[in-house]
Amino acid sequence: MSQSLADVLLQWERLEEEYHNIQETHRMYLQKLDEISKLQKSCFSAICLQRTKLQEMSSNVKKCSKVLSKENSLEMKDKIKMQTNALLEMEAFLPRKNGLYLSLVLGNVNVTLLSKQLKFAYKDEYEKFKLYLTFVLLLFSFICYFFVSYRFLDALLNFLLVWYYCTLTIRESILITNGSRIKGWWVFHHYISAFLSGVMLTWPDGNLYKVFRNQFLAYSLYQSFVQCLQCYYQSGCLYRLRALGERHNMDLTVEGFQSWMWKGLTFLLPFLFFGHFWQLFNSLSLFRMARLPVCTEWQVLVCSLSFFILFMGNFFTTLAVVHQKLKKRNQKTKIL
Ligand code: COA
Repeated sequence: MSQSLADVLLQWERLEEEYHNIQETHRMYLQKLDEISKLQKSCFSAICLQRTKLQEMSSNVKKCSKVLSKENSLEMKDKIKMQTNALLEMEAFLPRKNGLYLSLVLGNVNVTLLSKQLKFAYKDEYEKFKLYLTFVLLLFSFICYFFVSYRFLDALLNFLLVWYYCTLTIRESILITNGSRIKGWWVFHHYISAFLSGVMLTWPDGNLYKVFRNQFLAYSLYQSFVQCLQCYYQSGCLYRLRALGERHNMDLTVEGFQSWMWKGLTFLLPFLFFGHFWQLFNSLSLFRMARLPVCTEWQVLVCSLSFFILFMGNFFTTLAVVHQKLKKRNQKTKIL
């Protein structure tokens, strides 16, 4: 009995010791957090100050362009541009205030991820989320197109689409806060798609709805298929860029990445452009429908307009992205 009491007392002593150790570690942790928060603030204000100075310097270089030699002025402009980009990259690792949309949806919570690994993991999860949901949507559209013609199921599909696109806009805003270079149009494109699916959800089950239903479901099927290809391409880019970042291995691997990217892009582009023209076709079909005397539903014209905006934005942004990539490639080959 007395033996076991001694054991218990010994255990209690050890527990108390461990507890004190934990208290000490936690105290240190809070102290470091405090130090980090102070460092973040000083780093942020130093970046802001440096940015203003760079802007001033840029206008000074412009003013002195007549006095400076062409070479010097070009060199300085390049350096200013490089430093501005580097400051942007640094800023992606500092907490900052959420934009209007994130503040409205999430409130004032900090969404900045503080390490490269966390950023990569979040982007990777975003791509996987898109892929899994695309499979679900593909299956859903397939069932609605080939097997079940039931308005309630169509409404469920559109509801799922509204939820999917809204979630994407939130995730993309978080990605942008964390330094992603997603073009504004792709985020806006998801707002419009959410709106369009919402309008489709409210379209009453009349004759005109039945006429457009199959065309819309076939388009949804095709879009999900293209989305799978796009996810494959974008995950491929992500993994390859990450490997490059980790290995710091320059020319050869960068060229390897470029050639993989161009192969992927030239395979993907015809499918993308076909999808864009299908959006235009949807818009024109709905517009023709809206002009019929029997058409009383406002949804027809609104969907037609939404499809048209999607077509214009997607088509011209994709062209601009390809043009930008070609320009960069030509610049690189000139330097080599
Ligand atoms: N949705 C979400 N993110 C996108 C995106 C899109 N459509 N297009 C590009 N991005 C992201 C990239 O992942 C990258 O992110 P990161 O900075 O976090 O690494 C960033 O934007 C910059 O990408 P960029 O180099 O400009 O383009 P890309 O090579 O990744 O992709 C396209 C180019 C053309 C393949 C891509 O923009 C695309 O698929 N666009 C078409 C979308 C479309 O039309 N959909 C409807 C089909 S019917």
